Amino acid sequence: MNSLKNKHILSLQDLDLNEIISILDFAATLKKESKMDLSRKLLEGKTLGMVFQKPSTRTRVSFEIGMFQLGGHAIYLGINDMQLSKGETIEDTARTLSLYLDCLMARVYDHCDLEKLSTYSSIPIINGLSDLFHPCQILADLLTIREYKKKFNGLKLAWIGDGFNVCNDLLIGCAKTGINITAACPSGYEPPEWIVNISKKEGTKTGSIIKVTNEPIDAVQEADIVATDTFVSLGKDNEKIIRENVFIPKYQVNSELIKHAKDDAIFMHCLPAKRGQEVTSDVIDGKLSVVWKEAENRLHVQKALLCLLMRDN
Ligand code: CP
Ligand code: NVA
Repeated sequence: MNSLKNKHILSLQDLDLNEIISILDFAATLKKESKMDLSRKLLEGKTLGMVFQKPSTRTRVSFEIGMFQLGGHAIYLGINDMQLSKGETIEDTARTLSLYLDCLMARVYDHCDLEKLSTYSSIPIINGLSDLFHPCQILADLLTIREYKKKFNGLKLAWIGDGFNVCNDLLIGCAKTGINITAACPSGYEPPEWIVNISKKEGTKTGSIIKVTNEPIDAVQEADIVATDTFVSLGKDNEKIIRENVFIPKYQVNSELIKHAKDDAIFMHCLPAKRGQEVTSDVIDGKLSVVWKEAENRLHVQKALLCLLMRDN
């Protein structure tokens, strides 16, 4: 097993292909063991801190339960309960928390906050969602894709909607694993050019083809996987009306759009979903949808990641 001891995981850029596969393989083992009611207390005596600047259902609960199942402990640190909200610096917070914790997961608005945390911490930092990346989600997505498609290389993934945090890390994750990805986003809402360029560069190593378009039907044509995310991410509430007008109906994943994908395509969504906006109920509740498996896999990949970050293995 490849230890990741003391690495920071701020995006999929922090993991090479071998490390990604190690996390997925270990997650698959832990998942199998948990289905058989076998739990190993691999993180006995270890403590994870969880800083949340914004709300969460899946990330909070899956990390907390994951630590509990592994025999460790998780502490929820809501931003308003911390001296951070009263002006203590991120640098000093990082130095202090490193004295008590074995690992820190943080969900922040500004990705720079995570970079500062990682610079001033002596413990591993995990990104639990920033305005740029969502690595834990993409690891769960890759595990889900592998479970359904049994491979990565040569698959076609169509991303429909906002070229934001989830899309950004998915571009990198697909590039690193050899999945061809086309992101169909409205003009002005495409993923940042530097992230597309990083992904294209990664893609040259695996043969993954990275494309960005404004045309959802082109992206979905013969796709193996169709994925989307909310049109109004956390922190974007002030753009809600503009965004809904720009995205709906052209970028909505509905039965009309998804019929252009392969018959055995899967539909993915990191959740939370806004039914009737980025996806219709018939698609998210339909036979192509794997969103609940995807949500479950957050638990398994994060347990694997926590073990690999905190143990010598
Ligand atoms: N997908 C995801 O990160 O969900 P939460 O916002 O509920 O954590
Ligand atoms: N793009 C979404 C993802 C939520 C998990 C957001 O940032 O709110």
